[in-house]
Amino acid sequence: LADGPLRGKRIVVTSGPTHEPIDPVRYIANRSSGAQGAAIAVALRMLGAEVVFVTGPADVSPPDGVEVVPVETAREMRAAVLAALPADAAVFAAAVADWRVVGASDSKIKKVAGALPVLEFEENPDILAEVSKLTEDRPGLVVGFAAETNDVIENATAKRVRKGCDWIVANDVSPATGIMGGTENAVTLISDAGAEAWPRMGKDAVAHQLAARIADALV
Ligand code: C5P
Repeated sequence: LADGPLRGKRIVVTSGPTHEPIDPVRYIANRSSGAQGAAIAVALRMLGAEVVFVTGPADVSPPDGVEVVPVETAREMRAAVLAALPADAAVFAAAVADWRVVGASDSKIKKVAGALPVLEFEENPDILAEVSKLTEDRPGLVVGFAAETNDVIENATAKRVRKGCDWIVANDVSPATGIMGGTENAVTLISDAGAEAWPRMGKDAVAHQLAARIADALV
């Protein structure tokens, strides 16, 4: 492990989307490349942290030097995160699907001309909220993300309180920003001290700045 301020600290990072099956060949998911989560894992590791990287099916490969726990669904991600605790901090960068399909089919749903399937949904567990509300195993620092398309600060500030996490990294993912799927990010760090807007920078730079702040908070 690299030597650094996070040496000896265990940090769980979730990343990527989750896939919620409709049948063996179809799924619903949120858009997420997994780039920001992977960059955060790298940055934490470079500061010496032991990183458990719980990742859904992302576009980017998981980084070297971290413990990779690949998952598919939100329920699998929840189980993997809880199994990785206790930890000193947890960063929830995954774009978890809010809903899963009730009674996903074990066999491919046949296409029948003129007959459309109807999907029923049920709510997925909110992993960030659940971990934030743990009593015994709650990580000392819980960081969530908020991808918003409007009223970014207001929505993210409310989300921080609702979820019970310590920090929210808020970003504007309106299509016009080009952030979704791109290499840059413009984020606002929301904590009990208020909202701090960071300049637009590469996702790697956001990750390094966030890792440095996590190191400050944990020592
Ligand atoms: O509620 P919303 O999806 O906007 O919250 C985003 C934050 O919550 C992210 O940090 C995301 O990783 C986390 N989250 C989660 N489990 C869910 C939904 C979101 O951990 N089911």
